Amino acid sequence: METQPVKRRISVIGIGAGNPEYMTVQAINALNRAQVVFLPNKGADKAGLLHLRHEICDRYMDGEACRFVEFDIPERSKAGAYKTDVKEWRAKVRQIYERLLRDELAEDDVGAFLVWGDPSLYDGTLGILDRIHATGAFDLNVDVIPGISSVSALAARHKVALNRIGESLTIMTGRQLAAGFPDTGGNVVVMLDTQKGLQEIDGDIHIRWGAYVGSPDEILVEGKLRDVRDEIERLREVSRETHGWVMDTYVLSPDGGSTGD
Ligand SMILES: C[S@@+](CC[C@H](N)C(=O)[O-])C[C@H]1O[C@@H](n2cnc3c(N)ncnc32)[C@H](O)[C@@H]1O
Repeated sequence: METQPVKRRISVIGIGAGNPEYMTVQAINALNRAQVVFLPNKGADKAGLLHLRHEICDRYMDGEACRFVEFDIPERSKAGAYKTDVKEWRAKVRQIYERLLRDELAEDDVGAFLVWGDPSLYDGTLGILDRIHATGAFDLNVDVIPGISSVSALAARHKVALNRIGESLTIMTGRQLAAGFPDTGGNVVVMLDTQKGLQEIDGDIHIRWGAYVGSPDEILVEGKLRDVRDEIERLREVSRETHGWVMDTYVLSPDGGSTGD
């Protein structure tokens, strides 16, 4: 007899990038419809991220009937090529998700994954769920709730529009930036920068930088790169020592920082 796929309903909820007040009304309503909330645990160094998810649930959930299931996220290997390491890591996370969906959720329940910022930006949750659905072993009904990304939060805190009239906006990783500044003429937002990519960039470029944006630990710096580069590197070092991790994003403007026409 053919095995039927395991039917599951899931909400992927963008929770905003670091401030509980970034939760939208839609996100709060989706959270309150969930019977099970899955909470990733990224180890002692990043306990603050788990804490923020708990804080969001405590603050916005009104029922008692929900179950919280914490799960450990494996460390990503940094030994091989970046894309290969990420693929292998995602395969491991996929196995964990499959176990959670099979064992921790019933067919009529809704399970919620709380995604940092917005699920569409540098986050693997949707891709992993897609792969699980594609195996045919699961029949997933996925609902996606957008969230306030770190990019939107950074722009708001610096009070700027990210692109000028008719210009493009590039969003890229620190790793890509280290390989060269894009020649689109437009602004560039950089995320996931664990490199020293900024060292290589023309000092005339204007930077609007933010770490832990939206949180009580927020740090903002703005200026010409040649004037603020060392200060940003120093703040990153201090942040790493204080928090164990740093989450920063910045927008680079090639024409001196104008955000008007
Ligand atoms: C794995 S990505 C997740 C992005 C997330 N989905 C979003 O919409 O912002 C993590 C990166 O997002 C950026 N980031 C997330 N939260 C941030 C915050 N509160 N302040 C500054 N950068 C942040 C950093 O570049 C960090 O390395």
